[in-house]
Amino acid sequence: MDVFGLIGNPVGHSLSPAMHEAAYEKLDMDARYVTFSPEPSALERALDGAGALGIVGLNVTVPFKETVCEYLETDDLAGRIGAVNTVDVGAGTGHNTDAAGIVRALREHDVALDGTAVVVGAGGAGRAATFALADQGMTVRVANRTVARAERLVTAGPAASAHGLDEAPGLLDAADLLVNATSVGMEEDATPVPTDALHADLAVLDAVYRPLETSLLRAANRVGATTVDGGWMLLYQGVEAFELWTGRAAPVATMNDALRTRV
Ligand code: ATR
Repeated sequence: MDVFGLIGNPVGHSLSPAMHEAAYEKLDMDARYVTFSPEPSALERALDGAGALGIVGLNVTVPFKETVCEYLETDDLAGRIGAVNTVDVGAGTGHNTDAAGIVRALREHDVALDGTAVVVGAGGAGRAATFALADQGMTVRVANRTVARAERLVTAGPAASAHGLDEAPGLLDAADLLVNATSVGMEEDATPVPTDALHADLAVLDAVYRPLETSLLRAANRVGATTVDGGWMLLYQGVEAFELWTGRAAPVATMNDALRTRV
């Protein structure tokens, strides 16, 4: 049996086990996906142990996405982002499928990856979005409540500019894409930018997936913008991880159903 898993803390509400195990069942694979919460001080031993036990692949979430880089050989993108969410345990390599997942979620919704993107938020999700979209050739503006954090992100190398959150409405005038990479809208009725800054020529991707339909996406729909909810980002980072580990095409519709019935 092939064993895959997730390491992080907390992991109890993760949708990844259901999403991946639905794929194993669909493809008739003898495999399981389990969750682990090692103590932070035991991370290196946990990775060694995973290798010794023959665990095939691990996803990584908060609080280990950055620290895990110390113990792995990261690919170019994960190295630049400074965060790993997917480990090929046998190879000892770390990858960032959050970035690839953002690109794939947008492509699957026919969002053109050219022009200007405003990324609101400069945490892990904001970093992944900024590098991913800059690599696609988009002009990226990062707007964050704490400007210094946006500036640090931009200093790390992506072709992007740093701004305060108050500049976001002005930047959106000429933008083609808005990515909400803040936690605003998670289980609350708030938006990261004023809704009157949204317009019909915009595509809006929200990283928040609880709820799937955030206030931001509702307002974006009202003005005729293209909307992509956070479930798609979650889905495609998982799809990319599955394909990296197994070398097989992921059963995307099955994984999507498993995720959306549980969000
Ligand atoms: P993640 O790894 O999921 O991106 P994170 O690193 O905690 O999570 O980052 C959260 C992001 O949401 C940050 O950009 C944060 O802004 P700050 O850097 O200023 O903290 C942003 N954020 C959280 N709450 C916010 C709020 N109420 N208004 C605006 N931005 C907020």
